Amino acid sequence: MNETIKTMRAHRSIRAFKDTPIPQEHIDEAMLAGQAASTSSAVQPYCVIRVTDDDTRQQIADLAGPQQKIRDCPAFFIICADLRKHMLITRRAGNEYTNSLEALLVGSIDASLFAQNFALAFESMGYGICYIGAIRNDLPKVNDLLELPEGVCPLFGLCVGLPDQDPAHRPRLAPDAMLYNDRYPDDETTLAQIDQYDELYKQYLAERGAPPATWSESIAKKYSYVNRPGLGAFYESKGASLD
Ligand SMILES: Cc1cc2nc3c(=O)[nH]c(=O)nc-3n(C[C@H](O)[C@H](O)[C@H](O)COP(=O)(O)O)c2cc1C
Repeated sequence: MNETIKTMRAHRSIRAFKDTPIPQEHIDEAMLAGQAASTSSAVQPYCVIRVTDDDTRQQIADLAGPQQKIRDCPAFFIICADLRKHMLITRRAGNEYTNSLEALLVGSIDASLFAQNFALAFESMGYGICYIGAIRNDLPKVNDLLELPEGVCPLFGLCVGLPDQDPAHRPRLAPDAMLYNDRYPDDETTLAQIDQYDELYKQYLAERGAPPATWSESIAKKYSYVNRPGLGAFYESKGASLD
């Protein structure tokens, strides 16, 4: 295993951090590594807001659960799809900015590629990270707190800092349940692979002292109701299109 793969495979989300601040040069390095990720036709449709104000961080921590780590971690970032730069350029050129779901998808995909490089760069420097999807509990409030202009669409947060815990690795589905040759398998094969993983997952939770539910049980619950309704309307209000 080479060092890069070792770092990748050492990942586990960190939810308790030491107070030690992150030097600016480490953030600068992680930015360059993040920005080195591939980006569709070089359009670079994302930006990152580092939230430094304590009160703003507490308000985001509260709306996200609460998740106190958002307030307490040494650095907290919000990753956004950024359609604004393209809007400004297109309008400055005297053209009308025309929008489509494609622009929002490209923004979300490229922002995620950036974010994973950014996060991995921090992990390679010894930091721990935790993504925060729960900012989407209340995007209008996040938008207002950060005074985000038209075209800037917050997607998820990222906590970074030196780990103050050493959690176990959460098992994943077997690679052969994820990588297929030429065709998606039949449902019987897929469900058999899931049954195998369920056992592993249950064991992992039991070892952590958590209620030993299977992965299937949690997925069946999660996808039986509409999670975070209103996201489409919010992104449309930011100038994105769902069409
Ligand atoms: C986009 C995204 C959003 C997430 N949001 C949260 C979150 O709001 N709070 C949290 O504690 N973990 C969050 N996580 C972490 C996942 O729960 C975690 O990655 C997953 O359970 C696998 O565990 P591991 O990262 O330790 O391997 C998020 C992960 C991703 C990729």
